[in-house]
Amino acid sequence: MEDVEDPNEGVVSLAAGMALVPPGEPTLIADVDATIGSPSPTNIGELDRVLGGGLVPGSVTLLGGEPGIGKSTLLLQLLAAASGTTLYVTAEESAQQVRLRASRLNALSPQLWLLPEMSLPNIISAIDSVKPQLVVIDSIQTVADPDLGSTPGSVVQVRGCAHRLVQEAKRRDLPVVLVGHVTKEGGLAGPRVLEHVVDTVLSFEGDRHHALRLLRASKHRFGPTSELGLFEMTETGLAGVPDASKLFLADRRTGVPGSVVVSTLEGQRPLLVEVQALTNPTNGGTPARRSVQGVDSARLSMLLAVLERRARISLSGHDVYASVVGGVKLTEPGADLGLCLAIVSAITNTPLPADLIVAGEVGLAGEVRHASHTSQRLSEAERLGFTHALVPSRTSRELTKLTCQTVSTVNEALAHVGLVNSNND
Ligand code: TYD
Ligand code: MG
Repeated sequence: MEDVEDPNEGVVSLAAGMALVPPGEPTLIADVDATIGSPSPTNIGELDRVLGGGLVPGSVTLLGGEPGIGKSTLLLQLLAAASGTTLYVTAEESAQQVRLRASRLNALSPQLWLLPEMSLPNIISAIDSVKPQLVVIDSIQTVADPDLGSTPGSVVQVRGCAHRLVQEAKRRDLPVVLVGHVTKEGGLAGPRVLEHVVDTVLSFEGDRHHALRLLRASKHRFGPTSELGLFEMTETGLAGVPDASKLFLADRRTGVPGSVVVSTLEGQRPLLVEVQALTNPTNGGTPARRSVQGVDSARLSMLLAVLERRARISLSGHDVYASVVGGVKLTEPGADLGLCLAIVSAITNTPLPADLIVAGEVGLAGEVRHASHTSQRLSEAERLGFTHALVPSRTSRELTKLTCQTVSTVNEALAHVGLVNSNND
């Protein structure tokens, strides 16, 4: 991957692009037709959830993810589930390989056309002859336009091809999905530049050792970017996971010190996940280890400092391991209180009640702050059979059948579950 910026590269693609764009005309904002460009459902529920209803005609979506995470699988399923004629441009795998995968996925749709091709002009002619209602290009990094000179996969090529495809999509009102491989550093293979060329950027994430896959939008011109889509990789492809909390809690063992269930939010979606902590005296001489999985390490350090200064629980002589079960990442502070309880439960070797759910952000003063959308978090817990909740003091208790204990400090929370004496404040 060539990542060196060429001062002239933007000039090439922009100049080529300008010639094709029809001149714009000023319109009064109130006269603009807002009904054009509403999304059409993809028939893949979890994808529609992230896209805010479906794909918008003429939009270009970039699906990024590490190699092997399941991008081609998801898009083949998308094409097969579409109602009209679709075109899958395979610039990486042979037609045979794709067909074999499609048979496994039960995706041999009679309206799905396959084009093994890497040259952009040929791809555009195929779009003209097949007249599809949806196109997938797998992947943008392996497609090249001979007019652009530079080697396939270079920044000039990737940006130039994406730019051209955006114009073709807009001109035909055709939704196009591009696959983009993500480098180890997390960038969309050099060209992060693609992110502003396209309308929507989706990222497909997951831990290779788990079947769970998470789909998020980091940019979306047609809706919110806060929704999370969940899939499970099965032998017959990706299956949507509408009831994620149930899946995450399936293997939970109760009565074990260091384990707690937190009600976290991913976008508007409440998720119940088990947070586990383990502490172990540090081996003489070596610095204490802090090891995390699915937990932000800076957040863990901050919470350890709060526990030390505000609750007088010292972990400086202990290695601390914190992880979230099921390959989920905690991305919001509403999980703080749960993490604190898990750590103290681990170091005191005292299990927490099995029917307890925890939500709340922890501040530097040791205060427990309001966690957004608490009522949604509690109703999810109620749905899954939890009976008790430990929540911040501002929480309204009227809307839930759970027995709620409100707390305003970490100490109060620890005392309530019997992890410290109540006079420790
Ligand atoms: P793939 O879609 O090829 O990933 P990407 O396009 O992101 O590189 O998926 C690769 C993995 O998915 C592969 O290791 C095998 C696995 N897989 C399944 O487990 N079940 C299936 O039905 C399919 C098609 C793939
Ligand atoms: Mg692939």
